[in-house]
Amino acid sequence: MCGIFARVAAEPVADTLIEGLKRLEYRGYDSAGIATLEQGGIARICTVGKVEALEAAVRSGPPKGSIGIGHTRWATHGAPSERNAHPHIAPGVAVVHNGIIENHRELRQGLSDLGATFRSETDSEVIPWMISHHMASGAKTMDALRKAGEDMKGAFAVAALTESEPDTLHALRRGSPLAVGFGDKGAALASDPNALAGFAREAFMLEDGDSAELSRSGVDIRNAQGEKVHRQIVTIDDTALTTGSDGYAHHMLKEIHEQPQVIQRILSTYGSTGSILGRLTFDFRRVTRITLIACGTSYLAASLARRWFQEIAGIAAEVAIASEFRYEPLAPVQPGEIAIVISQSGETADTVGAMHRLKERGIPVLGLVNQAGSTIAREADCHIPLLAGPEIGVASTKAFVAQLTVLARIVLAAAQRRGHSGVSILHSALVRVPDSVSAVLHNEPAVMDVAQRVLQARSALFVGRGHLYPVALEGALKMKETSYIHAEGFAAGELKHGPIALVDSTTPIFALASSGPLFEKCASNIREIAARGGRIVLVGDRAALLALSDVATHALTVPHCPDFVQPIISTIPLQLLAYHVAVQRGLDVDRPRNLAKSVTVE
Ligand code: F6R
Repeated sequence: MCGIFARVAAEPVADTLIEGLKRLEYRGYDSAGIATLEQGGIARICTVGKVEALEAAVRSGPPKGSIGIGHTRWATHGAPSERNAHPHIAPGVAVVHNGIIENHRELRQGLSDLGATFRSETDSEVIPWMISHHMASGAKTMDALRKAGEDMKGAFAVAALTESEPDTLHALRRGSPLAVGFGDKGAALASDPNALAGFAREAFMLEDGDSAELSRSGVDIRNAQGEKVHRQIVTIDDTALTTGSDGYAHHMLKEIHEQPQVIQRILSTYGSTGSILGRLTFDFRRVTRITLIACGTSYLAASLARRWFQEIAGIAAEVAIASEFRYEPLAPVQPGEIAIVISQSGETADTVGAMHRLKERGIPVLGLVNQAGSTIAREADCHIPLLAGPEIGVASTKAFVAQLTVLARIVLAAAQRRGHSGVSILHSALVRVPDSVSAVLHNEPAVMDVAQRVLQARSALFVGRGHLYPVALEGALKMKETSYIHAEGFAAGELKHGPIALVDSTTPIFALASSGPLFEKCASNIREIAARGGRIVLVGDRAALLALSDVATHALTVPHCPDFVQPIISTIPLQLLAYHVAVQRGLDVDRPRNLAKSVTVE
């Protein structure tokens, strides 16, 4: 979603603003812009589309200013256009904004009455006008920005540049992430701490209500009461957003292929039950109910974990979509309730909102987060890092598999703590997963072949039962977001209650079925589809393949493994499939249209 990058230095900053914005491209955006101070006056350059277009515009008349703000905009209010792109300007003030100003209409009306002239359709444009208005009454920039913040409802991160204070950048955070860094070459701020690589070694993560002033000599961070504060320091991962895709054609492909190492890293770090339990603020022996909350792909990881908790650890568990949970009427809290919130970015606005609601209700929250220093990582009562490493491709792959692996380890630790038997057998199965995932990755040519055959499909169905049902949903989600083919996932047993009407010879049906307790049930459902002319691509182990060879048009084989870990392994061919279908359709697989990596608005 929107990205902010700003810098004050002893040299011209335009090139580094572009570099910073490129590092934020993965968040998703549709226009970009910068503003610098040129001989005391604000100069703004904005373009629609990729940062390359902005870079070309900047190169054609390079700004010389040594202080500037930059932005990549993911449109919310008003279409992607040069006018709606940030920075937004009012007399003497330029502002970039991430988030949503919910009361922008009434603010706009009030400011118009005072003589403001708006040129965009955005909610954000009220901010520079509010600052300008307060400064006209004598306020310094920081006070004017804070006053504007008091008038705004919603979530935001704002960076401002003013002509009256030409050596200082001003920033304010409420709800949307902002990291501030300082190094030999001045100070910088960004929506993602890793975008500061090369400008600072460490970043301070602003907290809600914080403001910051950045100059060439240092940074000054204040809390909502205006008191000087030190904030959590995050070590910047130099390799994170600055490296390319390491010889892979795309980040998504690189991230899919990294998965054996990611799983191995998780299993080594959280190998012992103590390494999990020692991070918790609650005791699994006393837990009576778990609510798992997340969005999108992370929600699908939560859905699988719900089954695992019930089946393996014997704990009642439920799963909720964060955006629904936030506003849902809830039953009274029971003793022993805990919640697990799951997020790659740790900044998803709905998941953060759900976490706040849980905390208000006094429910202990365990956060599973990939992005160090993010809001959920900081604010959850306890936190287990996902250790996937930076995920740049917008479609989540290795973070999903990391979520499943970490959740599997937690479930086993919970089961052990509660005295359940059989944990060591399941743990041995988990330890073998990296090898099985590598074996699936070696089978990539077979996936490419199937991708080629389904490329022209207008829609695709994914079906599975039990543990493989969430994987079917994830397969469909991956397919639709990367290839724009309409794809739906269903519980295989549910198909005959309606969706089977969609089955015809042009619609590929990806059936997830491997030998295990539900195999025969799922095999019957697959036969029902075949009997109606469905084109079945079986994703399963050899035994499943043999049993269904008469009805499967094509097959993607996965190694045989215990039911518990089969979902992790069965996910891999579906990720590769979504990737190759998208690439063969000529699409921008790392940055699919309309999507954002970090969804910081609700
Ligand atoms: C899908 C995808 C999204 C995210 C969702 C939650 O590939 O990436 O569905 O899973 O936006 O994001 P996080 O995990 O950052 O909270």
